[in-house]
Amino acid sequence: MLNREREITLRFLAEPTDVNFGGKVHGGAVMKWIDQAGYACAVGWSGQYCVTVYVGGIRFHRPVLIGNMVEVNAKIVYTGKTSMHVAVEVSAGDPKEGLYAKTTQCVIVFVALDDRGKTVEVERWEPGSEQDVALERYAKRLIELRKDTEMGPHGIVLY
Ligand SMILES: CC(C)(COP(=O)(O)OP(=O)(O)OC[C@H]1O[C@@H](n2cnc3c(N)ncnc32)[C@H](O)[C@@H]1OP(=O)(O)O)[C@@H](O)C(=O)NCCC(=O)NCCS
Repeated sequence: MLNREREITLRFLAEPTDVNFGGKVHGGAVMKWIDQAGYACAVGWSGQYCVTVYVGGIRFHRPVLIGNMVEVNAKIVYTGKTSMHVAVEVSAGDPKEGLYAKTTQCVIVFVALDDRGKTVEVERWEPGSEQDVALERYAKRLIELRKDTEMGPHGIVLY
């Protein structure tokens, strides 16, 4: 039976190869994890190959330390015709203590593509709880904000 998962969580240890110049996990490594979790979530929902079209409002609340257990949770919060808006939250903590704190969050948008690379419609996701309704509202608000603030392919339009 086809099982469309709305949410996935990746769990792994932050490795020494993820280090930045300050001895903590590199922001680029965190962004890669976010993209991977978001991708797995979007592909799982749509059953199609997906590409990232937008990464927005990424907030690094606190650092991830090398050796921390990392959890990257990705869940669909809004679906358009061909797009899936995925809220991603990264939590991390010392595995010896088992206490996890939110380190990073963002909303990332994926588009489903068919075998020829053409955009393809995705199944609609319906919010089922009050929190989901609030998350969908937030994703829609971001769409409106982007209309006013986003740079086009030719850069900032000054005049
Ligand atoms: C994905 C791609 C084929 C879509 O082509 P396009 O001409 O932009 O297609 P559309 O205008 O029909 O937009 C497709 C969807 O993207 C959404 N979209 C476009 N720009 C967006 C933005 N800035 N923010 C959020 N969503 C956006 C549209 O709203 C639409 O969603 P909907 O069908 O749910 O309404 C094209 O943008 C592309 O190839 N981008 C590069 C992807 C990539 O290389 N990613 C990095 C590696 S994975």
